Amino acid sequence: MKIAVIQGPNLNMLGVREQHIYGPMTLDQIHEQMKGSASQNGMELEFFQSNLEGEIVDKIQECLGEVDGIIINPAAYSHTSIAIRDALSAVAMPTVEVHISNIYKREEFRKNSITAPASTGVVSGFGPFGYHMALIALTQIINEIKANQQMQEEQAQAQTQSADEA
Ligand code: DQA
Repeated sequence: MKIAVIQGPNLNMLGVREQHIYGPMTLDQIHEQMKGSASQNGMELEFFQSNLEGEIVDKIQECLGEVDGIIINPAAYSHTSIAIRDALSAVAMPTVEVHISNIYKREEFRKNSITAPASTGVVSGFGPFGYHMALIALTQIINEIKANQQMQEEQAQAQTQSADEA
């Protein structure tokens, strides 16, 4: 199972920026932790960070056919970017949106995520641990989809077989 982890603007400044909100961990440290738990579960992670909206759109599009799911923190673009939301809707794959802080108890303009409706679910307010939660949730969602696909294939096969026998 392969998952893309996409990080939006200013998340490269974690560990330096507003530590009282985002904590002391750097983005590299968060990614190292994620790699640890992913490898234990036989998962492969691909990391990407950009401060540019178009690059994030490109990256989401590249995920099609390449990965099984996406973990994305669109950061400030969550509140502004129809382009990122459209890209997520276009690839239509299992996606978890993560926010390190609880966007619902901050400024009014952060309370609406434009991108969130294009995700399967959202984790907000649990600090860097939210990425770990997203990993667990995404694994569960992808496994359920794969199990359903297998069941449907088996049912179709059984139907063809009984039609052949009739
Ligand atoms: C953030 C919340 C956003 O409002 C903010 O612009 C960020 C980070 C978070 O992870 O809590 O850059 O997405």
